[in-house]
Amino acid sequence: MERWAICYVSTASPYIEEKDIDSVLSYTENWNIDHSITGILLSSEGNFFQVIEGERSIIKELFDNIAKDSRHRNLIKIFNKEIKNTEFNGYEATFLSKRTSNLSQDISYLDYIKCLDSASQNTVKNILKAFVD
Ligand SMILES: Cc1cc2nc3c(=O)[nH]c(=O)nc-3n(C[C@H](O)[C@H](O)[C@H](O)COP(=O)(O)O)c2cc1C
Repeated sequence: MERWAICYVSTASPYIEEKDIDSVLSYTENWNIDHSITGILLSSEGNFFQVIEGERSIIKELFDNIAKDSRHRNLIKIFNKEIKNTEFNGYEATFLSKRTSNLSQDISYLDYIKCLDSASQNTVKNILKAFVD
């Protein structure tokens, strides 16, 4: 089996509400677990960050479908590549923070991912590192 991984960020559509994001998160978690797709979907302050890992054709087809979804826009791919091993053990889709107009200044951005298990925190940190190094 050829394994593939895609990671991107996107902006939630201004027309969707928190309950709509909730249904995206729960649908995604259930579907991906049922289809042996690993990774993570995070929603924070009106943005999405997602990693999907699995069999190449399933991942490519799923991404094409996700990209057409009107509940988000401005998709920016971070990577789209073959992988030897998956980085994530299962699939988790969760809110890191709700959409707020006044982002609290005293919360460090890494505090937002403290709700994830430590393996997922490390993987997300490693992906983000590419942007600061
Ligand atoms: C940000 C975002 C991420 C999504 N991620 C997934 C996903 O990983 N797996 C999935 O099955 N659907 C995901 N969806 C939902 C799909 O876009 C789509 O609604 C779902 O696959 C059902 O497609 P269908 O209506 O063509 O059957 C996501 C939607 C959004 C807005």
